[in-house]
Amino acid sequence: MANDLLKKRVINFTDWEQEAEKRITPHAFTYIKSGAGNEETLRANEEAFYRWKIRPRFLKDVSERNLSITLFGKKHPTPFILAPIGMQGIAHPEGEKATAKAAQNMNVPFIASSVSTYSLEEIAHESVDNSRWFQLYWSKDWEITSSFVKRAEQAGYEAIVVTIDTALLGIRQGDLTHGYSPLKLGEGAGNYFSDPVFLSRLNESPAANIEAALKELVNVVYEPSLSWEDLSFLRKHTNLPILLKGILHPEDARLALEHSVDGVIVSNHGGRQLDGCIAALDALEEVAKAVGGKIPVLFDSGIRRGPDVIKALALGADAVLIGRPYIYGLAADGQMGVEQVLLNLGADVDASLALSGLSSIKHISPEIIVKKG
Ligand SMILES: Cc1cc2nc3c(=O)[nH]c(=O)nc-3n(C[C@H](O)[C@H](O)[C@H](O)COP(=O)(O)O)c2cc1C
Repeated sequence: MANDLLKKRVINFTDWEQEAEKRITPHAFTYIKSGAGNEETLRANEEAFYRWKIRPRFLKDVSERNLSITLFGKKHPTPFILAPIGMQGIAHPEGEKATAKAAQNMNVPFIASSVSTYSLEEIAHESVDNSRWFQLYWSKDWEITSSFVKRAEQAGYEAIVVTIDTALLGIRQGDLTHGYSPLKLGEGAGNYFSDPVFLSRLNESPAANIEAALKELVNVVYEPSLSWEDLSFLRKHTNLPILLKGILHPEDARLALEHSVDGVIVSNHGGRQLDGCIAALDALEEVAKAVGGKIPVLFDSGIRRGPDVIKALALGADAVLIGRPYIYGLAADGQMGVEQVLLNLGADVDASLALSGLSSIKHISPEIIVKKG
C-alpha cells in the first residue's frame, strides 16, 4: 500500500490528511483533525511558524549531515518523538501496536498515551528494543495513577510524561455536533481494563457490565484538583525522568525546575484544549530562556514540515513531538504510513538543514531565524 500512496504522490501533511479522510469514519476523522472552540488556537499554531523566517548561510560544506540528538543520555538519529495520541484504534485496527512497530523501525521514541486503545504492556511488546515513554493522565483515583506508573516502569518505559493541560476535556465543537466520544465508546480503555486497581473498583467485570466500567473510566480519567505540590507523590513512586507536557508560561517553567522536574514540553495539545490560547511556538522562546538549558525543552503543536522543525529548534527546543502527521499516516496506511510520514519528514529536515547552511542539528541557533510581520 505504501508504494501505491507514493505513486499517488502522498507526500506532505495535506496529502496524508486527505488520504486519512478517505479511509476512516467521518466521526473519527473529525475527532483527530478538530481543535477546541472556534479553532483559533489550532490555526494560530501553524500560523506562528510563518512569522519566523530562516536566514540561510552558504558555502559552508553541507555534504554530510547529522540529525541526531541526545536526550536523557540516549542518542536518537532524528530530533523526532511520536506525541502521545490516545485512542488510536479509531484510526486503524492495529492502533498503537502499529505505531509502536513503526517507531521501532524508524528508531524514534514513542510516547504511549494513558488512554490508548491497547494496554501499555501490549504496546511495549511491539517495540521491545525501542525507547518508549508513558504519558500519564493523572487519575482522580491516585492509586490508579501509581499503578499505571509502576506498570510503565515494569514494562520498560523510560520516562513519565505528565500532561498538565487537561484538568478536563476541551470543548470540541465537531465532536459535540456528532455526539461522538471515543473515550465513552471504550476506544481508550486499554490501560484501565487491564489495571488491577481500576478493576478492583468495579462491582462487575467490563465484560459483564461494559456501561458501568466505561462510566467509572470517564469518572476517574482526569484530576482537576492537581497542583504543583502533588508532583512529590509521583516522585515517590518512580525514579524515571518526569516531564510536564503543556507548559506555556515561563513562570511555570521556573516552577517545574523548582519542583525538580526533568523536562518540559511546550505544547497547547494541538489546539484541542483552551481555544484562544497562545500558539505553542509563541511560548517557546521565553520558556526555553527560563529553563536556561538545565533540563530538556521539547516542543509540539503545529509541526508539519522540515522547516518547522528547524524553527522550533532555533527557538530553543531540544526535540519536537510529531502529532497529527503520524496519526494521518496511521489512518492512511497503518504501520507503513507512520514510517513513510517519518521518512518524508526526516528528508525534509535534512534538506532544510543543508539549505540553511548547517551540517548538524547541534549547530541550529537563534541566529538562523528572524521574525517577520
Ligand atoms: C487525536 C489526538 C489525540 C490526542 N491524545 C492525547 C493524549 O492522549 N495525551 C496527550 O497528552 N496528548 C494528546 N494529544 C495531543 C498530542 O500529544 C500533541 O500535543 C498534539 O497532537 C500536537 O499538535 P499537532 O498534532 O497539531 O502538531 C492528542 C492529539 C490528537 C490530535
